[in-house]
Amino acid sequence: MMNYYIGIDLGTSSCKGILTDRSGRVIKEESVSYPVLTPHEGWTEQDPAEWLRAAKRIIKELSSGIEGDVKGLSVAGQMHGLVTLDENDEVIRPCILWNDGRCERQTAYLNEVIGKERLSELTGNIAFAGFTAPKLLWMYEEEPENFARIAKIMLPKDYLAYMLTGVHSTDYSDASGMLLVDVKNKCWSDEMLDICHVKREWLPELYESYEVTGRVKEEFSLPDCVVTAGAGDNAAAAVGTGTVVNGSCNVSLGTSGTIFISQDTFSVDPKNALHSFAHANGKWHLMGCILTAASARKWWLEDVIGCADYAGDEEEAKDAFSDVVFLPYLSGERSPHNDVRARGAFVGLSASTTRGEMSRAIMEGVAFALKDCLEVSKQNGVTPARTNLCGGGAKSRVWRQIVADVLEIPVDILETEQGPSLGGAVLAMVGYGEYGSVEEAAGAVAHVAETVEPDPSKYGYYEKKYEKFRKLYPAIKGAVQG
Ligand code: XUL
Repeated sequence: MMNYYIGIDLGTSSCKGILTDRSGRVIKEESVSYPVLTPHEGWTEQDPAEWLRAAKRIIKELSSGIEGDVKGLSVAGQMHGLVTLDENDEVIRPCILWNDGRCERQTAYLNEVIGKERLSELTGNIAFAGFTAPKLLWMYEEEPENFARIAKIMLPKDYLAYMLTGVHSTDYSDASGMLLVDVKNKCWSDEMLDICHVKREWLPELYESYEVTGRVKEEFSLPDCVVTAGAGDNAAAAVGTGTVVNGSCNVSLGTSGTIFISQDTFSVDPKNALHSFAHANGKWHLMGCILTAASARKWWLEDVIGCADYAGDEEEAKDAFSDVVFLPYLSGERSPHNDVRARGAFVGLSASTTRGEMSRAIMEGVAFALKDCLEVSKQNGVTPARTNLCGGGAKSRVWRQIVADVLEIPVDILETEQGPSLGGAVLAMVGYGEYGSVEEAAGAVAHVAETVEPDPSKYGYYEKKYEKFRKLYPAIKGAVQG
């Protein structure tokens, strides 16, 4: 009888799940989409009941008709979201998501009144509007009747794990993004809890991502399946792409875009433009997060020009080099600008600009925004020699080459672009005991399928364009801010 593992990625546009064997071979995959609710411009919310419905369907599909047992399951998920439950375990209000921009005032209070320096001493990070702590302050100030009902606080993936196991747990990688954890010492920060009016008993127990927290409840028909604490989607993606060695790098082109650098020791970017979070292997990482990545291309193709022909767009964009520059700040920006009111822009259009040039400019603009984060990392003396690439955008051959040329490093494409769910399955394998460590397991399952080498003949074009890109945000900030 075979041993199987399930990795679930609770994403922003859909929940994805994979069933693997111990080698990480994907035996089945399932995905269920759900909407992002925008009750006001700049706000993003989701109904946790939708996640649960999606996960139940996925687990049922993945586990039916297999010869063997599902031995372990882990959930990776969109980070920073605020899920609140009352004393009857009812969800109090829709989850406020990682790319929500409502907390500008609370973010400014934390950064300016409590002060960036103090926040960084307490947590290793400063406040960004998407983080959980400003959301708690917002709820305290704007929805006091809801705040008064809080009995439990959860991150999105922890809500799912709670519904599957009945155990209120979280892991260090995801909890790092709450701004309530002392990331260096891996414990809740009492001072941050006080600042955010949070009671310790509302919070889950903290675990390493690969530690077993419980078993799947009987109703899900996975007898004896262990569940580990799981991880934030970026840390899980890093595990799924084998980004677990000190200095190794993973770029994710999902709804958000991230550049994730694995670190054996805890360190802080002196300007806090990069996040200092815990990794899912028991160590740490530095991360830059841009709020719009593959979602910019989706917006352009599907919503604006009404054409989901991605293959045709690849052809049109392939050689469409131009002077058109795109700022990808469709939902404001996190790293490095920390500006919820930043907005996107196309600059340099002419009467002869083609659709292909605009499509290519979008992919280039996202790569430039990631380069902004990489530059911060380089200033800190951390210069990755190559990177892995995952997420939906990694399917695009044109985009892969753009990332390699803009970052000027080789880009490794993995056999599966589904980093977070594979990372989830790996954490489940370690929890069950198939492997002795996350490093060992990631080494056994993450396989590079192809390497995209940067093309030095394109460096001049991109350097010139990046210079323009860098100058545009400060130059038109006042004009484009929402
Ligand atoms: C990371 C972040 C995003 C979400 C997307 O800090 O906010 O990458 O995790 O799912």
